[in-house]
Amino acid sequence: MRIRHIAYGMATFLPGVQALRSRLQPGVMKEHTDSARYCYSVWLRHLVRASENGLNVWPEAVAELGPGSSLGVGLAALITGSSRYYGLEIVDRAGVEKNVEVFDELVELFTRREDIPAPDEFPRVKPMLENYDFPAHVLDGDRMLAALDGSRLESIRDSITTGGGMIEYRAPWHEADVIEKRSVDMIYSQAVLEHVDDLSSTYRAMALWLKPGGYVSHVIDFKSHGLSAAWDGHRACSDFVWRLVRGRRPYLLNRAPMSEHLDMLELHGFEARCREPYESEPTVSAEKLAPRFRGMTEEDRACASVFIQASRDG
Ligand SMILES: C[S@@+](CC[C@H](N)C(=O)[O-])C[C@H]1O[C@@H](n2cnc3c(N)ncnc32)[C@H](O)[C@@H]1O
Repeated sequence: MRIRHIAYGMATFLPGVQALRSRLQPGVMKEHTDSARYCYSVWLRHLVRASENGLNVWPEAVAELGPGSSLGVGLAALITGSSRYYGLEIVDRAGVEKNVEVFDELVELFTRREDIPAPDEFPRVKPMLENYDFPAHVLDGDRMLAALDGSRLESIRDSITTGGGMIEYRAPWHEADVIEKRSVDMIYSQAVLEHVDDLSSTYRAMALWLKPGGYVSHVIDFKSHGLSAAWDGHRACSDFVWRLVRGRRPYLLNRAPMSEHLDMLELHGFEARCREPYESEPTVSAEKLAPRFRGMTEEDRACASVFIQASRDG
């Protein structure tokens, strides 16, 4: 583990240090969703893959875990025809001004039917696609014409500025009752589930929120997020040192491997429709792993990130 991250984690036990969190939490507080092009790329990638996997590509209600510094991915969902967006965060960082700015840029991107920003622009963003052309087979002319109607866009903009209407943003959220049961068609997240402390309750909540036939679409990043030099170095860290690194940060990494997510999906009645691991060579030898990781499978050890889509019938 990098010493500065251990030192910062320990410092968070001191009163006042948390107030400086966003400036002093290197490697964790990334502001990707400040970029409209990033949000556009992420939304369209989830949508294109949903289409390939025979899932609903026109979800009426969508929910996102961990939107980050703007609600841009959810705004892209609203612009392309969804009528309700729930954004659930643990730290409130998405301000109205930023959301309006990202929204205006997104409208321009969709109006131009811009191609999906590809790996040359966002090399680390998953899922990967075979083709980054604007997905006219999913967002056809009629759908886009209706979606980009001026009064519809005005309603989305009003919802951003008033904090109501088509948008419900909860930060922090803790309980499943923030969203009505069986009311959501699609739940997605981008690089969030590796941070969630209570994975079991979160998967349970997702199962409750989905309408029958609804689905989840998640990218989970298992890398160390810069906490160690090696991508998998955080797995060499003992539970004791890990507690110091975590300190009183609002979140860090739960270190759950892919198989734990797959087990939870199964436990909560999800059927996997796509499971796409992105592999990297493990750098920590089996004997150097912290005791809790020594039983990890080779597949888990090599899995640097995964894209999962899973549906739920009942
Ligand atoms: C790496 S950032 C990803 C943000 C954004 N999705 C993106 O693509 O850039 C992880 C986000 O997860 C949020 N987060 C952590 N724990 C969470 C939880 N239990 N529920 C919702 N969001 C959470 C953090 O506040 C942070 O905004």
